[in-house]
Amino acid sequence: MNTKEKVDAIVVKYQKDKGFLVSILQDIQTEYNYLPKEALYDVSDNLGIPISQVYGVATFYRAFSLIPRGRHLVQVCLGTACHVRGAPKVLEALERKLKIKAGETTADNEHTLTSVNCLGACALGPVVVIDQDYHGQMNLSKVDKLFEIEKRG
Ligand code: FES
Repeated sequence: MNTKEKVDAIVVKYQKDKGFLVSILQDIQTEYNYLPKEALYDVSDNLGIPISQVYGVATFYRAFSLIPRGRHLVQVCLGTACHVRGAPKVLEALERKLKIKAGETTADNEHTLTSVNCLGACALGPVVVIDQDYHGQMNLSKVDKLFEIEKRG
């Protein structure tokens, strides 16, 4: 199935109801790990709503990404509480480990590394979140173990 066919199938699943725009975008993001531009235009056509409205929702929610992302999203908190407890060193270690810079995706499309400002778990800082899993009190020696856990899971 090409992108248009996949998007059409998702929109039909929601009876082309524009009230389900967020759910439709969630399904597309699940399919591609991000929201491809052509998919957003297909959604706009299918639902009969302006592309600006689709983009408005796509950019409002942080869970959505308009750029390609790997299978796993690795978020490193650089908020104040995490920063003072060594988060920049944790980010550097992750950049070395994954061989990419923050904001990039590994060549095998497995991991996207990003930095964020606060993940709402300041007491656990420095915090790294891989997909939905929070890893607190991160330090350099824990960085290697992070990915061992992921492989086992
Ligand atoms: S500053 Fe890192 S979780 Fe709040």
